[in-house]
Amino acid sequence: MMVTERTPVGDVVAKHPRAAGVFEKYHIDYCCRGKQPLGHACHAAGLAPSQVIEEILRTTLESSEDRDWTTATLSELAVHIVWVHHAFLRNELPALEARLRKVIDAHGERHGKALEALSRAFLGLKQELEIHLEKEELVLFPVIERLERAHVASEKRPTAPFGSVRNPIGMMEQEHRSAGDLLSRMRRATLDYTVPPDGCATYRALFEGLVRLEADLHRHIHLENNILFPRAVGLEAAFG
Ligand SMILES: [Fe+2]
Ligand SMILES: [Fe+2]
Repeated sequence: MMVTERTPVGDVVAKHPRAAGVFEKYHIDYCCRGKQPLGHACHAAGLAPSQVIEEILRTTLESSEDRDWTTATLSELAVHIVWVHHAFLRNELPALEARLRKVIDAHGERHGKALEALSRAFLGLKQELEIHLEKEELVLFPVIERLERAHVASEKRPTAPFGSVRNPIGMMEQEHRSAGDLLSRMRRATLDYTVPPDGCATYRALFEGLVRLEADLHRHIHLENNILFPRAVGLEAAFG
């Protein structure tokens, strides 16, 4: 489940306890009026919902950064990935695309070549990631959670249509490599995100956003490739 404008503010805090601090700062009542959708509450407080959502996710990300995910349950880790990193991408990718289009409109004439290379890589990344997140949320993560539940209950290994969990994991790892390549291409196209001297505030905001996107994606892929996936493979092997 992710945070959207429709998510009731009480549910947001139930899942992201750190969101309480953000709501308090903006005087949004998440206890007695916990059922109000986030979008309503933000508009009533004169705030842009997308900015509040971003702040909640950033706060949550910072607070869970130092948690030891090698000892948490796999279900907890999967929920963390979806709530923090997938939600971050679903918020950021469309916002960055809009910012990129603005920059191309304003600076396409002078910086067309670099912006075109950036745009090609970014739109490719956005498209690939949107499908990738769906595959993880609808196919792989539920399978991992089922494996864990069966293991805890000492039941038989649950069957899956694709056989071993290694198969979808292999596919996800390949998609992660592709995302990493596209991020590198974006970096090269922008000379390590150097804003040209004639770049405007939107140009700077775009590059700052892309740097944050890269950092978040690195952390996200690390949690999957280095912790969640190997632990899921180990769990499957434990069924014998
Ligand atoms: Fe993911
Ligand atoms: Fe992934």
